[in-house]
Amino acid sequence: MNISSSKNISESVTWVGKWTFVLAAAGSAVGLGNIWGFSYKVGEAGGSAFVLIYLGCILVVGLPIMMAEIMIGRYSQHSPVSAMKKAAIDSGKSGYWQSVGWTGLFSGVLILSFYSVLAGICINYIGIAAMPNTDISSFEQYAQVTGSPSTLFFWHSIFIGMNIAIIASGVIAGIERMVRLLMPILFILMIVMLINAMINGDFNAGLAYLFTPDFSKVNPETFLSAMGQAFFSLSLGMGSIMCYGSYMRKSEDIFKTSLTVAGLDTLIAILAGLAIFPMIFAYGMEPQQGTGLVFKSLLTIFIEMPLGNIIGPAFFMLLSIAALSSAISLLEPSVAYFEENNIFSRSAAAIILGLIIWFVGIGSILSLNSWENEYFLGERNFMDSIIYLTFNILMPLGGMLVAIFAGWFFKPRLAMEELSAANVNIFKTWRFFIKFVSPVLVASVFIYQLLG
Ligand code: TRP
Repeated sequence: MNISSSKNISESVTWVGKWTFVLAAAGSAVGLGNIWGFSYKVGEAGGSAFVLIYLGCILVVGLPIMMAEIMIGRYSQHSPVSAMKKAAIDSGKSGYWQSVGWTGLFSGVLILSFYSVLAGICINYIGIAAMPNTDISSFEQYAQVTGSPSTLFFWHSIFIGMNIAIIASGVIAGIERMVRLLMPILFILMIVMLINAMINGDFNAGLAYLFTPDFSKVNPETFLSAMGQAFFSLSLGMGSIMCYGSYMRKSEDIFKTSLTVAGLDTLIAILAGLAIFPMIFAYGMEPQQGTGLVFKSLLTIFIEMPLGNIIGPAFFMLLSIAALSSAISLLEPSVAYFEENNIFSRSAAAIILGLIIWFVGIGSILSLNSWENEYFLGERNFMDSIIYLTFNILMPLGGMLVAIFAGWFFKPRLAMEELSAANVNIFKTWRFFIKFVSPVLVASVFIYQLLG
């Protein structure tokens, strides 16, 4: 593939609005990971100690790697595969660095395949929360939903269809227009949920749970979980942010925008915790519920509480919107690759990739019912295998390689040019972290996991 002759997307595509990069990247970052994932992980890890370690991971590992991804994307103005190749060749290094981009495309397809199944459950729950079946408990209701392949299949297909439609419409008419519409709604819904928790929940118990550190609960697993969560939540290690960065204007300050995106992502995760835990405590439930926390416990609460048939659907609408704006960032890098190399048109690429992802997703649907105990990797069913592969291997590997490349292989002069809007001290600090701190921390987590 000859990069110079391939269509240079910078000529045709840059975000139109000044704030679009921030909105789109925050849309990518804020997703099921923040609301559903963060809350159940905080619950499992025993609260605030996890929150503190998570914040540390965001600052020390997440922020430098996010800056690196944006820098590489914007420098080369190409989708991740070609971006890595161009950045490497321009630095006098091997074009094989493009394999980092390929790993990213591969993990994007895998992540979206199960993400879509979960998002489908969230959409389904908008209706369930509006008209719950009060003859059965929320636990039975959840078992009914996950036990029915046809229900899951229906909503999974709807969700993939929405993704295809948005991505096929293009970067500006699809992604930009969607995030400008969805992100303000998401924020308003979040505030509604917070006010609800203040009125109907035990807000002090929620605050104490999230912010009074109890280090007796910290163990190596807490670090692993917090680091994985930080990576996933910031959409790192797979190319989403790199791809969105390639549409960013040269005049924007990469440090400030990264800080804003990481800040918004963290804010929403904490707000989600403050919206969920006060309710859990007020209704005498257990925070250590695992993945069913929002679908089982919260649904029970919505059924019991005043105006629950309005607040409940609004909550699941919030989850669905957050999921949609994240999902499109998982599909975009690979579609952009096919489009920019004139392999397929954008629409054809969106449809073909969407169908592949849809098909792989069927494995995750069945993992919730008939394939629950069919093992693939070790003693993991299909969905758990994909989650393991992406969370524990592909994403940390991608993030680590991006950090190593940005710190050790990318020409410092080029990095300096991209990050020049920041002052010299910020640049130096970033370089120190991306060279020594982030890769070493990610590598140690990675190795610990492989051995464990
Ligand atoms: N960050 C999203 C969430 O929190 C998910 C996501 C979108 C993602 N793009 C990604 C995760 C890229 C990893 C890599 O739900």
